[in-house]
Amino acid sequence: MVQSTYMHNRRSTTKKHTQKRSSATKRPLLIVGNWKMNPSTVGAARKLFLDIRKELGKKKLRTDVAIAPPFPFLSELERLSPSQRIKLAAQDVFFESGGSFTGEVSIAMLKSVGVSSIITGHSETRALGATDEEVGKDVLAILKSTLSPIVCIGESRRDTQGHYFTVVETQLRTILSGVPRSKLAHVVIAYEPVWAISTGDGRGKTATPEDVHEMRLFIQKVLSDLFGRTAAAKVRVLYGGSVNEKNAQSLLEAGLVDGFLIGGVSLRPREFSNVIEIAENYGKH
Ligand code: PGA
Repeated sequence: MVQSTYMHNRRSTTKKHTQKRSSATKRPLLIVGNWKMNPSTVGAARKLFLDIRKELGKKKLRTDVAIAPPFPFLSELERLSPSQRIKLAAQDVFFESGGSFTGEVSIAMLKSVGVSSIITGHSETRALGATDEEVGKDVLAILKSTLSPIVCIGESRRDTQGHYFTVVETQLRTILSGVPRSKLAHVVIAYEPVWAISTGDGRGKTATPEDVHEMRLFIQKVLSDLFGRTAAAKVRVLYGGSVNEKNAQSLLEAGLVDGFLIGGVSLRPREFSNVIEIAENYGKH
């Protein structure tokens, strides 16, 4: 398996879990909280957001932090984060720019309420019918609008023959097929093995740091094959699936990911901010 410059540049010490970030990887880590279909009222959303804001305190963050609430809460939360210290993300989008598409939401609408990145291809939206081709159209439209797509990929199950690598490779090749190399740096990949995504409480089965590291390298190789090493090294690759304050450290250090997409724990302000704190400390290296 080809290792990227990104991987080679990570200096490691003799101790496990003490790898440091190289200067080539100094772009900020990214932590995205995906609230899914929670909470149930705008009042509760406002409280949750303010609680997270309070837990994070006032100090400057070197980690990029974003919250993806349900659509109806976006404008309200935009008002609560005027400096964009906590950025806003959307959980999904429809690639068309407007017209007769009942129930859909466009990129321009999301942009107008302060959204800077958009999750696309989450396994829960795929379960309702979204295909790789449609996710690919979302990605192109999002990039055209200068927002950042957070592209979810991941296998449903693991097998002993390694077919799950083919699943991930096919997703990447299909979804990114029209992306120009010059725009690749705006793309964020979120590797979320479906078997590791909890039911929303953040207590499901987690991939081991080794599982994540192996897939991180593989994703890097596919990106390098598609776009060349230099462009591929600029893509942030997140991990998602039952991330919490206990596993975050080792997933960053041994999994070598650039941050997390977090579901259940993003609804618990203290734990969520503890994960961000872990990223802050790791990002110092
Ligand atoms: P989880 O969700 O952290 O609750 O596993 C992650 C996700 O679905 O993005």
